Amino acid sequence: KPTKPELLAQKNAEAELGGGQKRIDAQHAKGKLTARERIALLVDDGSFEEIGKFVMHRTRDFGLDKEHYLGDGVVTGYGTVEGRLVYVFAQDFTVFGGALSETHAEKICKLMDLAMQNGAPIIGLNDSGGARIQEGVLSLAGYADIFYRNTKASGVIPQLSAIMGPCAGGAVYSPAITDFIFMVEHTSYMFVTGPNVVKTVTHEEVTAEELGGASTHSTKSGVTHFACANELACIQQLKQLLSYIPQNCEDDPIRLPYESTDESRPALDSLIPAGANQPYDMREVIDELVDMGSFMEVHKNYAENIVVGFARIAGRSIGVVGNQPAVLAGVLDSNASTKAARFVRFCDCFNIPLLVLEDVPGFLPGTDQEWNGIISNGAKLLYAFCEATVPRVTVITRKAYGGAYDVMNSKHIGADLNYAWPSAEIAVMGASGAAEIIFKREIAEAADPQAKLQEKVLDYTEKFANPYRAANRGYIDEVIMPADTRKKLIRAFGMLKNKVAAMPKKKHGNIPL
Ligand code: COA
Repeated sequence: KPTKPELLAQKNAEAELGGGQKRIDAQHAKGKLTARERIALLVDDGSFEEIGKFVMHRTRDFGLDKEHYLGDGVVTGYGTVEGRLVYVFAQDFTVFGGALSETHAEKICKLMDLAMQNGAPIIGLNDSGGARIQEGVLSLAGYADIFYRNTKASGVIPQLSAIMGPCAGGAVYSPAITDFIFMVEHTSYMFVTGPNVVKTVTHEEVTAEELGGASTHSTKSGVTHFACANELACIQQLKQLLSYIPQNCEDDPIRLPYESTDESRPALDSLIPAGANQPYDMREVIDELVDMGSFMEVHKNYAENIVVGFARIAGRSIGVVGNQPAVLAGVLDSNASTKAARFVRFCDCFNIPLLVLEDVPGFLPGTDQEWNGIISNGAKLLYAFCEATVPRVTVITRKAYGGAYDVMNSKHIGADLNYAWPSAEIAVMGASGAAEIIFKREIAEAADPQAKLQEKVLDYTEKFANPYRAANRGYIDEVIMPADTRKKLIRAFGMLKNKVAAMPKKKHGNIPL
């Protein structure tokens, strides 16, 4: 008979073995790590404190009264990442395929409650066959308990989800409510219904990877924000993301120590091409403006006509939103609008100042866009900027046309400082389109309509294809040389660091979803 300390050691060892060595080996054979290995990679060495290690399920049906595993398929606890407190749960695929039972859910809920009460991020490492089928509605209730907490925690503490195996059926809706989803290429997938059900209902033949793998969700649906090459890369990116965001919505934004050097960036003076319709890569502008190598792009391969991500400027975390002239001329469409809107709202929830880099020819025309709701989708981005109370700075690098000018963090909707480069064109539309409309009759009646059009285009260009009309009105605070932009931004964000602004008291707004 073991002594009491021996019994405890035995139980600890048993819990740490999850579903047993054979299943651990099977997990490794699939190129996947175990729940405990993942946690060890995520948190600082020796910092993890486990909660609920000996929890067991209470099911008696279908032979489960004879099959118990300590911990019940999820490892939960807290630790630190780079010295900062985080709460982590990691589903253990070796125990009933990580399936979620009543008790498994209770462990996650207990952790979520602690995270909320103590104001620190919660990270979910998901790897699960879904609802514990033997438990029926108890397991569904467990999911709903988690969804409810996810929603209450939204905007209070950062919630990050990594999908490191299956995540199907109702299970997808917890990650979907969280702030960011990471997926591992080839070993993870997410879908509401799997390939077999799809085949029965729609007769489509599709593999799990095609239907809901990391590449699908990072390019086609935008469900995942990061597609990671492997589990190690996934955990490293999780940690990197954490480095930009505060612990909770009442925490100050992050500022790392920074020593000022020569902040002028002469390369920017020659970056904008001579022709207004020639593309350039907004990422190059971002890389010049932010602290070297600090840009972490979010949703990199989705709606690439807009670029969003985190960066630092003189050590301060900021969120960057930039139109991307290199893709579809940087036009705003439905996907770009919703992508940027969600990012702006995340930054606003967690006090992360916003930098907007604007070169936008307008909204994308066409039946596809109109029928898919570009009106309500574009309105999401407009709404997100309008309601954001964090420091907001805009730099217009080139085009700022039409309604898109208003939407892209214009002065009128609450931006704090708006700069324009001399190359900026702030107008209702491009000069030739404008001339064709307002001088239609004059051009048609001219002896040489083509020459007349050219004359009118030049006229319009001179009047409006520049930043000065807007600057005369104070809609632009300063027209600056590109090379000086970083210097200006460092000062601007420093000046705005104590900004206090509030929306009127309300229950919550009604963003056009
Ligand atoms: N409930 C209970 N046990 C489950 C489970 C679930 N939802 N999903 C998987 N398991 C168990 C399996 O019975 C198996 O047990 P074992 O180790 O004792 O043999 C173990 O988890 C591993 O599952 P397995 O099917 O062998 O792994 P796989 O990698 O081949 O397939 C899934 C993984 C998730 C695709 C597959 O298990 C599956 O389709 N599960 C059911 C998904 C589902 O319909 N969930 C309910 C709706 S949300």
